[in-house]
Amino acid sequence: MPAELIDGVAVAKLVRAEVARDTQALVERGVTPGLTVVLVGEDPASAVYVRAKEKACIEAGMNGKTIRLPATTPQDELLALIDRLNADTTVHGILVQMPVPKHIDPQAVILRIAPTKDVDGFHPVNVGRVWIGEKSGFAPCTPAGVMVLLEKAGVEVSGKNVVVLGRSNIVGKPMVSLLVAASATVTVCHSKTRDLPSVVRGADILIAAIGRPEFVTADMVKPGAVVIDVGINRVDDATNAKGYRLCGDVHFAGVSAVASKITPVPGGVGPMTIAMLLKNTVRAATQGLD
Ligand code: GUN
Repeated sequence: MPAELIDGVAVAKLVRAEVARDTQALVERGVTPGLTVVLVGEDPASAVYVRAKEKACIEAGMNGKTIRLPATTPQDELLALIDRLNADTTVHGILVQMPVPKHIDPQAVILRIAPTKDVDGFHPVNVGRVWIGEKSGFAPCTPAGVMVLLEKAGVEVSGKNVVVLGRSNIVGKPMVSLLVAASATVTVCHSKTRDLPSVVRGADILIAAIGRPEFVTADMVKPGAVVIDVGINRVDDATNAKGYRLCGDVHFAGVSAVASKITPVPGGVGPMTIAMLLKNTVRAATQGLD
């Protein structure tokens, strides 16, 4: 039997409806949640993501703003802008779209954003808060979205063997943090993992976030496992009018014949990232209200 699809578009819609209700309640108390996204440069994929974030904010009734800066913007200017946004009481969430141009140190940018406005959950203060289970921390949006997808798909995490493929600061590491908090037994695999396929085959739940197109094949997946594909890769495809197609880190056709549940790409984890960003922004706007 082919795997059941976990529909990220439908779950994201539920989360966004909840966010819109919470936003309305805040507006009635005189606070309109505000998210400012900063985009430095003209990376086409980043431009698409940033437009989607602004549109989603506005649809939820929030103040969604995008500040676009030229790729040549000096780091000092970007940091000074962040200082102004930190001080602006109408801005509750600040997100600087990554990657930033090479002359800018991403860590300096992350450290400059006030932890209370860091709706990306990248600041070390939030990383630490989430790691020790302090409720005030903001969890990064993609792993937080994966947890909601698992919950809504009725997948029990407690006590399960979960393999996280990838150890990035944006997905792999915070994913571990959230899974451990949910009482999973977690293994992280990466480029140095020995006999990676056999480790991955031990997973009851597999989270693939390594950025390698169709890396996970059917022989690496335990029959009945739940597979969450975080990857979004462009691969050349002459049969497609655009000349490319999108695929995940999982070979979907093969793996969906073995897994019990699987997320598609697109339409799986992707839509959840934006929904969780809106949720974090509402939480940021709620801070300080009684
Ligand atoms: N680039 C890709 N994903 C993200 C994200 O979640 N946040 C930011 N700031 N940049 C990204």
